[in-house]
Amino acid sequence: MSYPYQITSYEAYKEAYKQSIENPEQFWGGVAENFTWKKKWDKVLEWNFTEPKIEWFKGAKLNITENCLDRHIEAHGNAPAIIWEPNAPDEKNRLLTYKKLLEKVCQFGQVLKNNGVKKGDRVCIYMGMVPELAVATLACARIGAIHSVIFGGFSAQSIADRLYDAQAEFIVTCDGAFRGAKDIPLKNVIDDALIGNHTIKKVIVCTRTRTPISMLKGRDVWYEDEMKHVEEQGITFIEAEPMDAEDPLFILYTSGSTGKPKGVVHACGGYMVYTNYTFINVFQYQPSQVHFCTADIGWITGHSYILYGPLSAGATSLIFEGVPTYPNAGRFWDIVDKYKVNILYTAPTAIRSLMGFGLGPLQGKDLSSLKVLGTVGEPINEEAWHWYDEYVGKKQCPIVDTWWQTETGGILISNLAGITPAKPSWATLPLPGVQMVLVDEKGNEVLDEEGSDTVGGNLCIKFPWPSILRTTYGDHERCRTNYFATYPNLYFTGDGALRSKEGFYRITGRVDDVLNVSGHRIGTAEVENAINMHSGVVESAVVGYPHDIKGQGIYAYVVFGNTHGDETLTRKDILQTVTRIIGPIAKPDKIQFVSGLPKTRSGKIMRRILRKIAEGETENLGDTSTLLDPGVVDEIKRGKI
Ligand code: PRX
Repeated sequence: MSYPYQITSYEAYKEAYKQSIENPEQFWGGVAENFTWKKKWDKVLEWNFTEPKIEWFKGAKLNITENCLDRHIEAHGNAPAIIWEPNAPDEKNRLLTYKKLLEKVCQFGQVLKNNGVKKGDRVCIYMGMVPELAVATLACARIGAIHSVIFGGFSAQSIADRLYDAQAEFIVTCDGAFRGAKDIPLKNVIDDALIGNHTIKKVIVCTRTRTPISMLKGRDVWYEDEMKHVEEQGITFIEAEPMDAEDPLFILYTSGSTGKPKGVVHACGGYMVYTNYTFINVFQYQPSQVHFCTADIGWITGHSYILYGPLSAGATSLIFEGVPTYPNAGRFWDIVDKYKVNILYTAPTAIRSLMGFGLGPLQGKDLSSLKVLGTVGEPINEEAWHWYDEYVGKKQCPIVDTWWQTETGGILISNLAGITPAKPSWATLPLPGVQMVLVDEKGNEVLDEEGSDTVGGNLCIKFPWPSILRTTYGDHERCRTNYFATYPNLYFTGDGALRSKEGFYRITGRVDDVLNVSGHRIGTAEVENAINMHSGVVESAVVGYPHDIKGQGIYAYVVFGNTHGDETLTRKDILQTVTRIIGPIAKPDKIQFVSGLPKTRSGKIMRRILRKIAEGETENLGDTSTLLDPGVVDEIKRGKI
């Protein structure tokens, strides 16, 4: 495959950027010409940010799996599409060629149909990182069902909420999942999630851990049995369902500043074009390279840069089931060495955690295949950036610091590997088509200032790019108020940023009540709701604080009804409650019991003060004169953990 839209010089980037701004429709129409469409579009773009209504490639028909699979078969059907590395290094790995992957996707697409799944139905996928997860996801896309993948670390309650919100009728899961030394009982979690559920008709269960599970007659079927049935019928191919470019491809739930996660909806056409475009340009992908993105497919990074981006480019995508430190902290480097990985895309938190193990785990590992390194999910501190550069990339590999979000579908700000300049801890320049602006609290655009090197503000975008979210599932008004209402005619990211004179962006972090813990996005309100479910808790307030490895840690201030009990046990009970309501990823790192929270006379919790105390600040807490009971602040300061 050739990629005529691959940018190969800084000059070419500037030119592409200019064209994309001056004539966006011509620019994206030109890129889109390189894909397989069942019918071409009538109009490249129609939009307004007030409703919002955004339509890319309107009138076009396509199926993303034809672009990810079928179109590669002739030229390199026998090339590896997916390499799977299991959790335990001594277990056999697996390889799926493009031909094999297409066959499996078609067969599982047929399985879905046999079980009653139709175009537009919502299928929840709750699996570990096994090849069948990729197959199930792509099979949904093949038949036009809307997939909603849920990360394996979420609890039964979280799943139940998402199933209800999406009105999902089908689930694909595994008996269990291996993650490092742990064995997660996925099917049991699903069974709990389904207590009281009235929408789910079928649960398809794939075998992985052989954990004993219960299979409910009429509802639960085995993945392997269903596949065997289709194989016995001799089915190896099914036609890809023609989808409108604006038909939903998937829902992915993500946290916001309210207690309830939102179902971000992405559309087939624009998402396909943009994830492919960014994969090829940011990572400077070259044919036959091996791409290793260490994210889980349950997050947007896995959707866009394990599945759709790499596969639509015909790349070899490596799926790793385990964790970076199991059985030891050399696991990533062993994988790079074993498969001659060319592109490594990971999170700053993983780098920081591996840094903590020193250089020993890197010794004797041949990392010379690496050409490009990438980071995503949170700001990367300079120390981690330099360690990654020096000891992993051996100063030979450009590092791309990619800024984006679940809602953006693909990378919006990043250097292009080896093509545009890199700057440690700066995401640098926007991709073509991406029109960033900084605004102040009132929404006025922040312009560059004479005599100052950087300006700062809230990060917004003033023009749509092809993979912008289209809605939040079942509640378009929520989409409008969350992203398009803070500042008129702008998409608001929720992040703060600095901009340098050269136009480089440095993301400074969320300016709303969203935390970023180990690159996982968690709403403070969500954690508070979970803590408040504990019968002894009167109220709570959750804030973030700087954490050496996780980037941000979760600090919870809890007002507890009965203070006579054992604090250590109560803490454990609260952690258990949060695990049950959200999942282990949302467990607070610190819980401080307090007798009251700092509130204004109108009853609003002054989080600013709590944030400062959690950060270790005791003196400059700002104006506390509006507090109902300023004395509570001293008590909180004294009790800081
Ligand atoms: O705060 C930004 C941070 O992660 C948020 C988006 O989280 P999520 O939707 O879970 O997607 C993560 C993977 C794309 C952003 O609002 N973030 C993401 N990438 C970066 C980042 N912060 C700084 N630098 C980045 N490269």
